Amino acid sequence: MAKDINKESYDEATLTKLDIFEQYLLAWLPVFIQTPYTGEVMICDFFAGSGQDPEKVPGSPLRILRTIDKYRDDIFSKNITVRIIFNEAAADKHDELKAAVNSSFDQNSWKEKVSVLCFNGEFQNLFRQQYEQLKRQPNLLFIDQYGVKEVTGEIFQMLVELNKTDFLFFMSSSAMKRFAGTPEFKTHFPDIDPAKIADAKYEDIHRIMLEYYQGKIPDDNETKLYPFTLKKGANIYGLVFGSKHLLGVEKFLDLAWDQNKINGEANFDIDEDVQKKEATLFDSMPDYKRPKTKREIFEDCLENFIISHREVTNRDIYYFTLDHGHPKSHARECVSRLKKDGKVEYKGNIGFSYDRCVKKEPKIIKVKNNG
Ligand SMILES: C[S@@+](CC[C@H](N)C(=O)[O-])C[C@H]1O[C@@H](n2cnc3c(N)ncnc32)[C@H](O)[C@@H]1O
Repeated sequence: MAKDINKESYDEATLTKLDIFEQYLLAWLPVFIQTPYTGEVMICDFFAGSGQDPEKVPGSPLRILRTIDKYRDDIFSKNITVRIIFNEAAADKHDELKAAVNSSFDQNSWKEKVSVLCFNGEFQNLFRQQYEQLKRQPNLLFIDQYGVKEVTGEIFQMLVELNKTDFLFFMSSSAMKRFAGTPEFKTHFPDIDPAKIADAKYEDIHRIMLEYYQGKIPDDNETKLYPFTLKKGANIYGLVFGSKHLLGVEKFLDLAWDQNKINGEANFDIDEDVQKKEATLFDSMPDYKRPKTKREIFEDCLENFIISHREVTNRDIYYFTLDHGHPKSHARECVSRLKKDGKVEYKGNIGFSYDRCVKKEPKIIKVKNNG
């Protein structure tokens, strides 16, 4: 039995997880409110819990409601409705959830613009039941499961088949390790070798699982996945973010790198990048090459990409940067440095946002003859 997350104060890792989800929602919602003809959006919190912790720190459902409230004026001024689904399988927690929602959400004040439905079901059943509805509008799905069992290969495939749907799901590496030793494992993950999980270090399980899910994405499907690893004492947990939309990816990477400026993918120094930047006794040795940090490796790759192509656009750089899991600010700083160093040239101001690179005419960056 997993311990009940709502019965104790949320710990640091849980707060980081909730913060990432809330920040993403804050960035995601206005995109759809401002897009003409969106009509409706749906937000599903499939593992909503009871709403808060014992100190009344808001959990995911109350965070959704307070974010919606921040956009009240925009929602009323645009032709959009928001449908919110909360689900919690445990009957007592579902009752608490309903009470918490009733005290923070005033349906009358929202008229028909925002609706909230609280379900008391098993995630997989509800997901299948709602699947036809999910195909109809843009969705943001939060799947805050205990452990790993709910996002099976089949459920994952259904997720990536949905259009205009971003999702964020949680998994626990220690639960995965325990689960790999059970006969049930094969029915949930028939194509994962349980020995691979059993032999892996805790730190690596999240990445193995990410590879597994990546392998499930059909070739013609544009979903991109990004991990964010959370350390809680000796345990490693992870969030997986998935989106087909570049703007969604851009927003997720911006906030992930805001959470951790060293690696953008964990609430700790997962690749020991801090140590790599520190001066050591070896630095003065002629043949010693200091290991590079994730950011430095990316900047080297981007520089090689630009230099080897001789001429690229900011759009090419934008795709390259998101594919490598970096935020647009890293691309901007790298390209400005190359210009300052006399290696590249371009006219005027050059931006690296979705608006500047995808919606507008791309701008050209040329390698200088001596570059
Ligand atoms: C990690 S907690 C969710 C915490 C919540 N998101 C918050 O912010 O407080 C997972 C919740 O899922 C519920 N749960 C477990 N299995 C479930 C299932 N199959 N379907 C729906 N809910 C389930 C548990 O009772 C628990 O409250």
